[in-house]
Amino acid sequence: MNDEKLMSIAQQFGTPAFVFDEAELHARVAFLRENLPARATLCFAVKANPFAIPLIRPVVHRFEVCSPGELNICRAVGVAPEEIVLSGVYKDEATVRDLVERDVPIHRYTVESLTQFQLLYRLAKEYGHRLPLLLRVTTGTQFGMDQAVVRQIIAEHGADPTVEICGLQVFAGTQKKTARRTAKELAMADALIADLRESYGFEVREFEFGPGLPVEYFDDYDEAEERALLAEVSELLEGMAFQGPLTLEIGRSLVASCGSYITGVVDAKTNKGENYAIVDGGKHQMVYYGGGLVMRQPPCWQLGSRDLDAAAGNVENWNICGSLCTTNDFLAKEVPAVDLAVGDVIAFDRTGAYCMTEGISLFLSRDLPKVVYALANGSNKLVREGIPTDPLNTPRL
Ligand SMILES: Cc1ncc(COP(=O)(O)O)c(C=O)c1O
Repeated sequence: MNDEKLMSIAQQFGTPAFVFDEAELHARVAFLRENLPARATLCFAVKANPFAIPLIRPVVHRFEVCSPGELNICRAVGVAPEEIVLSGVYKDEATVRDLVERDVPIHRYTVESLTQFQLLYRLAKEYGHRLPLLLRVTTGTQFGMDQAVVRQIIAEHGADPTVEICGLQVFAGTQKKTARRTAKELAMADALIADLRESYGFEVREFEFGPGLPVEYFDDYDEAEERALLAEVSELLEGMAFQGPLTLEIGRSLVASCGSYITGVVDAKTNKGENYAIVDGGKHQMVYYGGGLVMRQPPCWQLGSRDLDAAAGNVENWNICGSLCTTNDFLAKEVPAVDLAVGDVIAFDRTGAYCMTEGISLFLSRDLPKVVYALANGSNKLVREGIPTDPLNTPRL
């Protein structure tokens, strides 16, 4: 988003704020569609950015939901149960029971363990509702199940009408910068699918895969490089023996580029020869992947001075620090800025995925930032006020 637009949002709504750019989001989805297999449907992993749900809903097929909170958010913004893949390593009985009891037509439930299978099976039997399941296969983490457990479930229940085992799910990690691991994971899935057919006569009808597509946060974005990676991933997917319905679960890569974080300079000083700009936001509100913010420079700049050569004034380097009482609240090191002063606004780019929800938002009991949509029709809409967090940190005596 350009500086003028971000500045007008800062003036209209104040800082700190996250801004989500609808036009960029739609362009991004179109880019991924163009560069991924045409037969793949897209499932947005809600955890990446719940605020993107209403904006992305017209352009994706499904929403992957991993907690009761995410389910409530989907409900609140009108996502239909048929659009939801209920996933997550912890599925509490009360939430699942409520859905099954009311016969809510959730599109798919993923199964992450034998315990989860037993829970879903028991509820399906109790209420007489045939639940549609995807068995998640592990790649050696706490997520999903060993292939032996998948085989056991298929051997015992592959043809059992109590539940409908639709297929498999594989998600093995985020920020996969090469296709090497994807190749292994897809080969593993193909081999398992073949084995389930041969050993149990069980036909996997669907495959849901999280490719963990990467986002470049710290170096310049190279579109040709990204297209090359997507071409490799697509070739692997198209080359699978399994040619049935394919869903790609994606979070980061869909939404990272649509978000900007804007934070205002509230103090500026020089300590022992170093310039420090204190901003009204901080690390409690915005973290980049891996948290290596200072080690690697995030894409940030002083609004109005993106083109330093064209700017008239005194260019100096400034350390950008947030408003927490910790030296860790260091957002960026030595950012060149022109005549930096209190009231200026610093923008951080590519903050549309995870950055706003992975922060330590309760530290120091500061308010959460506002959230603003920059809509494709040119208007701006405040979709969340800057919520105080002190009630969450106050003991009730
Ligand atoms: C099961 C599952 N699917 C999809 C995703 C989205 O991953 P990414 O944001 O890398 O696309 C995650 C992220 O943790 C996940 O746990």
